[in-house]
Amino acid sequence: MKDTKEKFSSITLSLHWIIAIVFICMLTVGFYMTNYNAFALFPIHQSTGILLFILILWRVIWRYINGWPIPVSQYSTVERVLARIVHWLLIIGILLQPISGMLMSAGSGNGLYVFGLELLHANLDSAGKAIPIAANIGELGENIHGAGANIMVAAISLHILGALKHHIIDKDGSLRRIFGKNI
Ligand code: HEM
Ligand code: HEM
Repeated sequence: MKDTKEKFSSITLSLHWIIAIVFICMLTVGFYMTNYNAFALFPIHQSTGILLFILILWRVIWRYINGWPIPVSQYSTVERVLARIVHWLLIIGILLQPISGMLMSAGSGNGLYVFGLELLHANLDSAGKAIPIAANIGELGENIHGAGANIMVAAISLHILGALKHHIIDKDGSLRRIFGKNI
């Protein structure tokens, strides 16, 4: 079933909310892990991120097939452009975050693992320390991952503020629609 102006399909709703909740948890765990040196959390961070990537790919293809949501009423050009920019940032951001994470781990020689399942072998020396297999790719991934995380915090905050503005000030059905209600 496709999205309509009145109602989102169950696929759009499930993908939006599963990815939104898991993504916010991933940001929280990621910042906690680096700020408090809690790298015991890394296997969970990595495994969840790689699995989420599969759903993210599905969501991006789904968005491509469905087109962007039809606004529930008429808004100013500034609002429409701002909403479109933030939606693009969110879509690109949810793709780039796991991709850059994988590039960082793979490039730095730490391999790729999903809950113990080996996708790419870690390149370790005899003391168990990772030897980069492509240091420049690892660094590129690290830079994108760090900057992307901060940009996503800003984009998600704007997105939530926008949704609340629709609900409280415009009193339109945008927020009700993303909770599966018929408007
Ligand atoms: C946690 C609170 C959130 C609320 C209340 C919320 C609310 C909404 C609403 C109301 C829409 C529909 C916009 C429209 O009618 O044009 C929407 C769409 C969208 N949201 Fe959220 N959202 C939340 C979290 C997130 C997060 C964390 C992400 C990304 C990581 C995200 C990504 C998107 C994207 C990309 C769209 C465009 C439509 C789509 O691709 O499904 N949202 N959201
Ligand atoms: C869904 C997506 C993901 C999100 C939202 C996310 C988010 C984050 C955040 C917020 C940080 C802390 C960044 C900082 O403080 O500079 C972080 C660190 C990290 N993430 Fe992710 N991540 C995701 C997926 C992945 C994946 C799939 C991998 C690996 C395969 C990965 C590997 C790492 C590593 C190695 C660090 C530590 C970086 C460092 O020490 O500089 N992440 N992540």
